[in-house]
Amino acid sequence: MNVVNQTAHQAEHVGRPNTLLQINHLSVDYHAENGTVHALTDVSLSLERGRILGLAGESGSGKSTLGYAVTRLLKPPAAIVAGEALYTPRAARLTGELAQPVDVLRLTPQQLRALRWTELAIVFQSAMNALNPVLNVGAQLTDVLRAHRPDMTRQQRQARALELLRMVGIAPDRLRSFPHELCGGMRQRAIIAIALALAPDLIIMDEPTTALDVVVQREILMEVMALRAELAFSVVFITHDLSLLLELADTVAIMYAGRVVELATRGELKRNPRHPYSYGMLNSFPTIQGERRHMTGIPGSPPDLRSVAPGCAFAARCPLAFAACRTETPPLRPATGPGDSQLVACHLYDPRHRAAAPTAAEFAARYEAAYRQERTPGRTPGRMERSAR
Ligand SMILES: Nc1ncnc2c1ncn2[C@@H]1O[C@H](COP(=O)(O)OP(=O)(O)O)[C@@H](O)[C@H]1O
Ligand code: SF4
Ligand SMILES: [Mg+2]
Repeated sequence: MNVVNQTAHQAEHVGRPNTLLQINHLSVDYHAENGTVHALTDVSLSLERGRILGLAGESGSGKSTLGYAVTRLLKPPAAIVAGEALYTPRAARLTGELAQPVDVLRLTPQQLRALRWTELAIVFQSAMNALNPVLNVGAQLTDVLRAHRPDMTRQQRQARALELLRMVGIAPDRLRSFPHELCGGMRQRAIIAIALALAPDLIIMDEPTTALDVVVQREILMEVMALRAELAFSVVFITHDLSLLLELADTVAIMYAGRVVELATRGELKRNPRHPYSYGMLNSFPTIQGERRHMTGIPGSPPDLRSVAPGCAFAARCPLAFAACRTETPPLRPATGPGDSQLVACHLYDPRHRAAAPTAAEFAARYEAAYRQERTPGRTPGRMERSAR
């Protein structure tokens, strides 16, 4: 069952008049004691108004770093080493008139205060850490309103707090509850209510329901999607759970070792995952309704981001790797040539290495054959087994 039905989305992934957020060439390092971690390298992404951009990838692929960078919540030892994050605010929120884009990464603290919560909010994975344990939920909601909407009276703030609780499915009598008096699902709903308080245009959700059981997770996500349809905000949805994004995102960016390795609409990715890592991820989980298929998965683990070997960061785990993969880093490019909206960072789609990009069927057959050969018992261990150890 789909969480929400989306209309077909023709993404071009480059700045269009309706672009809300355009991230260009973003790189972030953590200067850790034992070496510099290149958490994000040359990431470019865009999000249109009213749309959902999903970020998927294994733990450590840089998803949260991206969320923190765009909201300017990164703290040392993190450092933004390159890039920009252009956000187009609404100059007159009532008329809907658009202002010029601002680079969030270069805003002054005062400009940033004006942008946070009113335009852009973040929902973290751990509601317990995000909520203030010594303030009740109502006080936390009215605090945000008091700080950003000095024009509101006490009664108006109170009324808005109750309205927000209703929107996220919390009973009004919970207004005076403290975080420890709420269950995990309720706490996460409270965080979402705070994020919605000033009706932002963009909400970044970092694993918002990962800590919750599947039923509660689904309930909350369905509500968030219904609210999004009603209030028309955009979402950057971060999760390690690609199956979730295939239900709710318009566009999905697959991240690996701090880079975007595939950028595609939800439909493109479902039908035809182009990057071997995306293909492996999609075949790591069974679908209930889809065709029966062979589950492969991806043995091995991601590289240490302090010293990524030259070439494609996925080469040590990729059953289709060839010589160029170990020397050249593949750039993100249209999969089958100019005009293709599906972008992929893999040499298999580089005309210098192949006359034509593999078709979906060819690609799947090659992947499955190479994968099976790597896993044949009694053979000298191949690349995948070696990396899995
Ligand atoms: N404070 C930190 N110091 C050093 N390395 C960090 C720090 N925070 C995150 N990292 C590293 O940055 C990389 C990306 O982390 P993160 O953005 O949290 O990934 P994800 O959200 O995809 O799991 C990982 O290799 C992680 O170990
Ligand atoms: S560039 Fe090479 S190693 Fe990387 S995903 Fe493509 S085929 Fe595999
Ligand atoms: Mg994370």
